[in-house]
Amino acid sequence: MKKDKKFIKEKFDKIVRRYDLVNLIGSLGQDKLWRRKVAEILKASKPPILDLCCGPYTLSVEIFKKNSHSLFALDFSFSMLYYGKRRILNNSIYPVCGDAEVLPFKGNTFGGISIAFGLRNLPNMEKALNEFYRVLKFEGTLVILEFSWPRNRIFQKIYKIYLDKYMPILGSVLTGDKSAYLYLADSIKKFPPPEEIKEILLETGFKKVKYEFLTMGIVTLYTAYKV
Ligand SMILES: C[S@@+](CC[C@H](N)C(=O)[O-])C[C@H]1O[C@@H](n2cnc3c(N)ncnc32)[C@H](O)[C@@H]1O
Repeated sequence: MKKDKKFIKEKFDKIVRRYDLVNLIGSLGQDKLWRRKVAEILKASKPPILDLCCGPYTLSVEIFKKNSHSLFALDFSFSMLYYGKRRILNNSIYPVCGDAEVLPFKGNTFGGISIAFGLRNLPNMEKALNEFYRVLKFEGTLVILEFSWPRNRIFQKIYKIYLDKYMPILGSVLTGDKSAYLYLADSIKKFPPPEEIKEILLETGFKKVKYEFLTMGIVTLYTAYKV
């Protein structure tokens, strides 16, 4: 399945109205807990914070609850930013419509950067990570939340059915776009394992890179620092 920006943007534009609902039902509410972990890590980061591939600000608002200085939320889908706008009306979350691979910010700007379920969608991950490194301040933290393939062999079989059959049906019923959820399954299977992501982060220049498996390893939380 192709992974070009036009295709990906069209998919997200199409599912925007039910995006959070599919996540909530599909993950049985686990997705809220995953995002809260990211917010907890960024609680002490110096402002401003940058939430990349923010969608309808699903993670941005969780971060803002813990670190309420100023937060920039970037996505290339205007529909996502527009649809989620009611969530950011009364606080200092500043939406930015832009590409995570070419960030419109000067170097050493952000005390913390987050990206939840976005890295997998970027065609040139290395280029994007270099950009994240560039705009992060010294002593700043990068937190990545991303799907991963579980390690347990029995659970792998159940997870495969969940991804290949259940999620496309759920996605199709709720959003009318089955192909977006076929793409989800395909992109998760093709995404490099955490050991490889850790190596890439180190090669980019990040230090103290760590990762933690969440919910039987279907999601991995990475932390990395610019020191
Ligand atoms: C799976 S959603 C994640 C949304 C949110 N971070 C969350 O926690 O649910 C991925 C988002 O990444 C955005 N995206 C994909 N590629 C992008 C790119 N190159 N630049 C900026 N945003 C991108 C999509 O528009 C979509 O809103």
